[in-house]
Amino acid sequence: MSLIEEKKRLVDRGRLPRHVAIIMDGNGRWAERQNLHRIEGHRKGLEAVKEVVEISKELGIEVLTLYAFSKENWQRPKEEVDQLMELLHDYLLSERDRLLEEGIRLNPIGDLDDLPPRVREALLETARMTSENRDLILNLALSYSGRWEILKGVKRAIEEVREGRLRLQDLTPEVFSGFLSTAGLPDPDLLIRTSGEQRISNFLLWQLAYTELYFTEVLWPEFTKADFLDAILDYQSRERRFGLTSSQLTGNPSGGARS
Ligand code: IPE
Ligand code: IPE
Ligand code: MG
Repeated sequence: MSLIEEKKRLVDRGRLPRHVAIIMDGNGRWAERQNLHRIEGHRKGLEAVKEVVEISKELGIEVLTLYAFSKENWQRPKEEVDQLMELLHDYLLSERDRLLEEGIRLNPIGDLDDLPPRVREALLETARMTSENRDLILNLALSYSGRWEILKGVKRAIEEVREGRLRLQDLTPEVFSGFLSTAGLPDPDLLIRTSGEQRISNFLLWQLAYTELYFTEVLWPEFTKADFLDAILDYQSRERRFGLTSSQLTGNPSGGARS
C-alpha cells in the first residue's frame, strides 16, 4: 500500500474538518534554495494546489480556502506581481474543465476590483461556470485581507441599519458572519500554514476565532497529499473545547481530578 493510502486509512472519516484553510507560504524561498527565479516557486506552488484540491475532494472535505495573494502582496516588486497574475490567469483557464468534471465550485474571495481585468474576468467566468457544483467549495483568496473584509462587513451592516432592514440589537455574530465573503459557510476547523512562519498575515481574522492551527516547516511547493493527511491526523488528535472544560466535553463530571 502506498504511503498516502496508509495515511488515508488512519483518518477518522466521522471527524473530518468540514473546512480547511491554508496559508500557502514559502514559494520564494523554495525557488531561491534551488537557485531559481521566485516565479518558479509560484509555478511549482500551483502543482501543490492541484494536489491539495484533489485530496480534499477525495476525503470529502466540504470547504477548502486557499490564501493565494494578500492585499499586502501588491507591494512586492512589479515583475513578481505581474508574473504571478499571469500564472493565476493561466491556472484559472487550464483548470476550468477539471473543476467542472470534479464537481468543484470555485468561489473567489477578496477585493476583485484590484485585479487586472483579464484575471478578474477569468476568475468570474470560472466561478460562474462552476457555481452549481456541490462536491467541494474552493474559496480562492485573491487580493484578500481580513481587516479589509471585516471593515467591508461593518460598512454593510451600517447600511442595513440605516436603510431600516436590520435593527442594531439584532446584529449578532451570526448575522455579522453573513456579511463576510464566507457567508453561509462553516468557519475553518483547521488552518495550515507552511514554511515555518507562525502568523496569520491578515487571513480570515473573524472566521479563525476557534480554528485549530497547524504549522509545518515544509515549503509550499513541496507540500504533498501526505503532508495534508498529516495535518488532518494531527487535527483529529486534538480536543476542541470552545471555552468549555474538558470534562464538560467528555461527560466525566470529576474531570479525573478527584478519583
Ligand atoms: C507564498 O510564497 C505565495 C505568495 C505570498 C504569493 P512567498 O512568495 O511568500 O514565499 P516566501 O515566503 O518569500 O518564501
Ligand atoms: C501570506 O504570505 C499571504 C499568502 C500566502 C498569499 P506572505 O508571505 O505574504 O506573509 P508574510 O509577509 O510572511 O507575513
Ligand atoms: Mg511568504
